[in-house]
Amino acid sequence: MSELATNMKIRRSYLANRVASLKPSGIRKFFDIVATMNDVISLGIGEPDFTTPDSILQAGIRSLQSGQTHYTSNSGTLELRQALADHLQGRYGVSYDPQNELVITVGVSEALYLALTALLNPGEEVIIPTPCFVAYQAEVILAGGVPVEIPSRMEDNFQPRPEDIEAAITPRTKAILIGYPNNPTGAVVSPEILTEILEVAEKYDLLVLSDEIYDQLVYGIPHVCFPALPGARGRTLLLGGFSKNYAMTGWRIGYAAGPAALIKGLLRIHQYTIMCAPTTAQDAALEALLHGQQYVDEMVARYNRRRNLIVSGLNDIGLPTFEPHGAFYAFPNITASGMDEETFAQKLLEEEHVAVVPGSAFGAGGEGFVRCSYATAYKEIEEALRRMERFMRRHG
Ligand SMILES: Cc1ncc(COP(=O)(O)O)c(C=O)c1O
Repeated sequence: MSELATNMKIRRSYLANRVASLKPSGIRKFFDIVATMNDVISLGIGEPDFTTPDSILQAGIRSLQSGQTHYTSNSGTLELRQALADHLQGRYGVSYDPQNELVITVGVSEALYLALTALLNPGEEVIIPTPCFVAYQAEVILAGGVPVEIPSRMEDNFQPRPEDIEAAITPRTKAILIGYPNNPTGAVVSPEILTEILEVAEKYDLLVLSDEIYDQLVYGIPHVCFPALPGARGRTLLLGGFSKNYAMTGWRIGYAAGPAALIKGLLRIHQYTIMCAPTTAQDAALEALLHGQQYVDEMVARYNRRRNLIVSGLNDIGLPTFEPHGAFYAFPNITASGMDEETFAQKLLEEEHVAVVPGSAFGAGGEGFVRCSYATAYKEIEEALRRMERFMRRHG
């Protein structure tokens, strides 16, 4: 049968409505343009520019060479779960039973997918402060739920207002999904506001999903682990990972931690869809937990130097930028350019070959801003700032 005849017979899209309705990520679009250009300085990337520290690499290589080429337990190796439980206990004073309260996943991406799919009935709502990681809304929709965005504002240092969360609650609300330190703003939320969010969750009997993938990348202030707040553990799923802290994005390792009854649900999906996270990567992650702290400290010191450079540089060229205390993103307000964030990012790329991501890719709260990643070499940031200054002289 000719292709035309075949096409004539197919008159409908076989894609499920919830998939067909998903918008492509606003980040990808820019990467596709960047890939066709020379001499681009990319501040668009959301991953460490460092390669994985050598001792972690070696642990992965040793794992393969010693024949660890098989499945592990669905939940992940007990050694890794035990080390993770010890790590969370030692660092944050929150305790999880490695036997039934932890599952090792394929990145936080999978942990999020499992959590939302396991928890949401069709039409149940998840409140999400924005701007936020691009996958949150999409993953809620894929799980059959409804994302309900509330804005966070620069004047509040991009911390969500608990009263906004409370105002968005309906009888269909199931959970609040927060991600701090935040991608794309770099915001860290104070213990007081986190406690108020917990009080709202308690009042309405909601779950809290806390994505803490950037927990170790904080500058000058401690990270507060949400389930470590008094009374929070029983209604919280903690999502964490190795991608950002240990520069291990390509290894694909993350985890979910929470009460056994919830983890059991996540595990049910994980065992049928994924089976287990990659064995090599689990062995490398174990090394990261046991001996990786010095590397994290070194990377944090280097990010911090770049953070100081980019934040003061952006402010100096007339792009007001709040001081981020976590992750590796600066989030300048670009309204002084007279452009919206999409036009700004597009023109900056075309005219000065600097790639940034329009803030609206991260939800409505990102309008008027762009995300600049400082997981980029110091010299490249210096050059990007020179180009952006030239751009703002023309457009400011
Ligand atoms: C806030 C946040 N959560 C989760 C992820 C996904 O990370 P992973 O590599 O662990 O899947 C990212 C990646 O950019 C992120 O920024």
